[in-house]
Amino acid sequence: MKINGKPYRTIWPHGETSVEVIDQTKLPHEFRTVMLRNVDDAARAIRQMIVRGAPLIGATAAYGIALAMREDASDEALDRAHDTLLETRPTAVNLRWALKRMCDALRNHPRDQRASLAWAEAAKIADEDVEVCRSIGEHGLKILQEAAAKKKPGETLNVLTHCNAGWLGCVDWGTALAPIYMAYDAGIPIHVWVDETRPRNQGASLTAFELGGHGVPHTIIADNAGGLLMTRGQVDLCIVGTDRVTANGDVANKIGTYLKALAAKDNNVPFHVALPSSTIDWQMAKGSDIPIEERSVDEVLKMTGRTPTGTVVTVDIAAPGSSAANPGFDVTPARLVTGFITERGTCEASEKGLKSLFPSE
Ligand code: MRU
Repeated sequence: MKINGKPYRTIWPHGETSVEVIDQTKLPHEFRTVMLRNVDDAARAIRQMIVRGAPLIGATAAYGIALAMREDASDEALDRAHDTLLETRPTAVNLRWALKRMCDALRNHPRDQRASLAWAEAAKIADEDVEVCRSIGEHGLKILQEAAAKKKPGETLNVLTHCNAGWLGCVDWGTALAPIYMAYDAGIPIHVWVDETRPRNQGASLTAFELGGHGVPHTIIADNAGGLLMTRGQVDLCIVGTDRVTANGDVANKIGTYLKALAAKDNNVPFHVALPSSTIDWQMAKGSDIPIEERSVDEVLKMTGRTPTGTVVTVDIAAPGSSAANPGFDVTPARLVTGFITERGTCEASEKGLKSLFPSE
């Protein structure tokens, strides 16, 4: 996708020496990139959410292994890099998926070949993510076309999304936003309700930034506004991304997703979840087993923004001494999900539905 007219991915290698990423902690106030030169840089970028979003976390971890192999391609170094990267964030399963894929690709090869193989495999993971997201977009577009066909001529299709499951959370295109970009490009009159997504504001800071960059009409709303909009008939459907889908179809996503799914169910608003197959945890039976990241309470007690003079500042928003809690994700049970949009097509949110698209898993 483009920033100021220039095409970007969220992550790109420089030869076989370093990797550059867009610093998402600075958006939308400043566009800055960060160079990752070793495995610790990659781990720090994931932990500090310089890069974030399940597919991008996976791609960064893959490049993290490549950076490690550049310095030391022994089995011990591979294990160390794997473990360092795996402990960065607990909920998005794409991290484990990418690390396993890298280790499987390298383990049985001689040490002197591992560095080159690792760079090639990481690039493959990144390139595949772009194609997978493009396919998700194409399958999701059909859902948006059908929904638009039910509207009166000239009426706008209103889609609600939560957090950022756009190109910034992936390598390109995005998961939940890919169908929206394609619908917009196809001339469907579309408007997106963007949940601000407290506490880190991925909606207000990232989703709105990227939709605006593509020209897609959108409106940022407080996280609690979606329910009212649904009761008023102002939301035609919801599409969100996910960080882990368990074998039975339960969905972990950014905190607040579950409440949107409940409101959608109560108002007969379709609630779709877009995901690459790398987000399916076939080994985990149900959503209540998913590890939920507990994040710093500072994210709840403070907010960061730009002053009229252009300085970015962080301010306290609570009375001194108040305590806070900050679970980063919640789990939406499969029964509240209308369907999944994957790179292989759409299916019902259930084990049967997932197996119909991925029979060999
Ligand atoms: O904590 P984050 O910003 O990494 O969480 C990401 C999300 O929850 C995304 O919204 C998402 O749906 C999965 S990534 C496309």
